Formats: sequence, C-alpha cells, structure tokens
Amino acid sequence: MKAILVNGSRREKGCTFTALSLVAKELNAAGIDTEIYFIGKKVIDGQVDEIVKEVGEALADADAFVMGSPVYYASPSGESQMFLDRLFIKYGKNLKFKPAAAVVSARRAGTSATLDDLNKYFTNNQMPVVSSNYWNMVHGSAPEDVMKDLEGVEIMQTLGRNMAWILKCIEAGKAAGIEHPQDKERVRTNFIR
Ligand SMILES: Cc1cc2nc3c(=O)[nH]c(=O)nc-3n(C[C@H](O)[C@H](O)[C@H](O)COP(=O)(O)O)c2cc1C
Repeated sequence: MKAILVNGSRREKGCTFTALSLVAKELNAAGIDTEIYFIGKKVIDGQVDEIVKEVGEALADADAFVMGSPVYYASPSGESQMFLDRLFIKYGKNLKFKPAAAVVSARRAGTSATLDDLNKYFTNNQMPVVSSNYWNMVHGSAPEDVMKDLEGVEIMQTLGRNMAWILKCIEAGKAAGIEHPQDKERVRTNFIR
C-alpha cells in the first residue's frame, strides 16, 4: 500500500515538510510506502497543470492522500488551493473513497480555518477523513521549531498510525469481499431551474 503526501509550501524542506515527514515515518513503520511531492514551487512558476498531472496520475495507484499546507493569512497557501482546485476537478476519480487527511503549519494563528478549507475537498469527494487526537497542526517558523512543538509532533505521529490502521482495515475488508459503494447517478440542481 502507498500514501501520497503533498507539500503545498513554497519551502521544500520547511515546517510543512517536517510535519508530513512525521506522518510518513509512522506509515512506513506500519509497512506503508510513502512519497512526498513538493508542489509549491511548480505552482508559483506557472507549472500547475504539469504537477497536477504528475500527482493526479500517481494517485491512481495510491491508497491514501495527505495534504500539507502552511497557513498564509489564516488560510491555506494560494499554491495549495490552486493545486487542489485543479487536482480535484481533473483527478477526483483517483481520490474517491481513499482515506485522506490535511495537516497545517503556522507560526501562530489561522490553523483551524485552514484545516476546514482543506478538509472540504475530501468531504466533497467521498473520502474518509482520518483524524488524530487533536487537530492536525504544528507550530513554528522553521523545522526545528516544529520539532520543539512536542504536542504537534505527537499529533502527526498519531495521525500516521491512525491512517495506517484505516488502510489495513480497508484492505482486510476487501479481502473479505467488502468493496466501496457503487455510485448512483448524481442529482445536480441549482437555485434557478
Ligand atoms: C505569506 C505568508 C503568510 C503567513 N500567514 C500566517 C498566518 O496567517 N498565521 C500564522 O500563524 N503564520 C503565518 N505565516 C507563517 C507560516 O504559516 C509558518 O511560518 C509556517 O510554519 C511555514 O511553513 P513552511 O516552512 O512549510 O512554509 C505566513 C507566512 C507567509 C509566507
């Protein structure tokens, strides 16, 4: 099994990466492969379609998804949002029914609002949202700050273990003949017609 993790920061090895790495380490310890994609630079350099395609296609063979974003002005980074807007429109089918989690990093404030934004992509696409023992946030301006945020570190580790457990439950369910539900044709209405 494999989980894909995405770093939506402009900093390749910053706080968001540090948080994602903690989650990945627990997944690896449970025998689940991981890959962390750094998308922030490509989005800001105007290569959003390229990186969305790369991650979107990789997701077809993955079992779980973790989105990491720094908090910018009490929201996800613009890079994360542009990436997710494109990813879910074009490759939502490769994400559907796969467990997901969002993690955020902030110096101080805006974490809960940012998590709300990110989790909405998952709950719009039939993805079981995996949680930890507190909201998935770390605090700091540099990776060493994050490692000093002992509660944040523990939250990330618990999240990784919880995601591994859910993945194994799904695998055991499949072996017992339990598949995800079949989609019915979707009803779409608006408030005019
Ligand atoms: C444009 C910008 C806006 C930011 N806005 C906030 C904010 O609203 N609240 C906050 O606590 N930190 C804010 N920060 C700080 C980052 O969220 C914080 O340093 C984060 O851990 C950086 O993660 P990274 O190293 O992965 O980029 C902001 C940073 C930048 C560059």
